[in-house]
Amino acid sequence: QAIPVICIDGPTASGKGTLASEVAQRLGYQLLDSGALYRATALAAQDAGVDLDDEPGLARLAAQLPLAFRDHKVFLGGRDITDPLRLESTGGMASRVSQHLAVRSALHALQLSFRRLPGLVADGRDMGTVIFPDAPLKVYLTASAEQRAQRRHKQLISKGIAANIDSLLADLKMRDHRDSSRAHAPLKPAEDALLLDNSELGIEQSVQQVLNWWQGKT
Ligand code: C5P
Repeated sequence: QAIPVICIDGPTASGKGTLASEVAQRLGYQLLDSGALYRATALAAQDAGVDLDDEPGLARLAAQLPLAFRDHKVFLGGRDITDPLRLESTGGMASRVSQHLAVRSALHALQLSFRRLPGLVADGRDMGTVIFPDAPLKVYLTASAEQRAQRRHKQLISKGIAANIDSLLADLKMRDHRDSSRAHAPLKPAEDALLLDNSELGIEQSVQQVLNWWQGKT
């Protein structure tokens, strides 16, 4: 019997991360935040002075990321990258890094290694389409771009980070476009994905929806 996986894919700032970590916690499952791997590769490239267009150079970094997750913190080598990892600028760099097939391939096995008992909740762009095509539950999470920009804006302001809603919206649309139009593993719902539009839903309602779907599968 294969180890169960719940995939949660969707665009930038759709709330995948929060939803995935809540669902994982309720079920006592492992969590894979696949975006963090692309973000960490981008930070590693920045540290090493590797250009974001240097596909072989980036793939080498991705293949041996000294990444560790401990006590809700993320370390790259010895460095605590928990905060820089979440910066908008890091997300933008990650979106460029993730265009390269060699980088995606280099991170493939690492992602599979998160599939451990009793189960996994994986969030990203291609969890259901490429990494875990046999997952019994695939959720495609969406919300309007305006909603997502507003949420991101609120989130940044609450952390005391200055943010402009128009430039956030423009940034987000650019990343959506780049992620959906790229040649390799573009962002799109898997054929067997269930769509969840959380524009009008609170986090608890989204969690309950996913848990209900999961109960229906098990
Ligand atoms: O989800 P998050 O914003 O952390 O992802 C950062 C970037 O990493 C995305 O814009 C996307 O380009 C890339 N990514 C990806 N495949 C994934 C997860 C993230 O290409 N599975």
